[in-house]
Amino acid sequence: MSDEARDGSVETSLHIDPYEKNWMRLTVVLLVVFATAVTIAGFALGFQVPSPEERVNPNTVASEGPFSEPGLREYPDGSYDLYIVSQMFSFVPNEVTIPAGSEVTFYVTAVDVQHGFKIQNTNVNMQIVPGQVSKLTATFDEPGSYDFICTEYCGSAHAQMYGTLTVEK
Ligand code: CUA
Repeated sequence: MSDEARDGSVETSLHIDPYEKNWMRLTVVLLVVFATAVTIAGFALGFQVPSPEERVNPNTVASEGPFSEPGLREYPDGSYDLYIVSQMFSFVPNEVTIPAGSEVTFYVTAVDVQHGFKIQNTNVNMQIVPGQVSKLTATFDEPGSYDFICTEYCGSAHAQMYGTLTVEK
């Protein structure tokens, strides 16, 4: 369709279609919604971005250093560090028990391919990359059984890669 109107005059002002205007409004609204969601998640709900704690050699990480003896380390203040090695197709350890109210800092690494580490019904959800240690801290106030699963497809038995964190009263 031509810009020329029936009377021969040419439209010179910027014409924005009403539909396009609505899409532009929607874009601004979505940006505000996303920014608000990130702010609430970070400051009100305490979501953390899992940090790459350090780089390690995936070929030797399971035989030397803290991951050679994976599991819980308890500190005098009642907090814990938990070292977990991920590999096709298991977490070591895959059964962990802590008392309710414990603050646990997870250190998780992989020795073969990329895995995921997600504890159901919690904020703990990390990608586990060979050569890197993923770290996240969480507090477990509610007693119960928390399954943790691999969330990254890592091979034929990916669905069998899971474990349980038990929080006792
Ligand atoms: Cu490990 Cu999927």
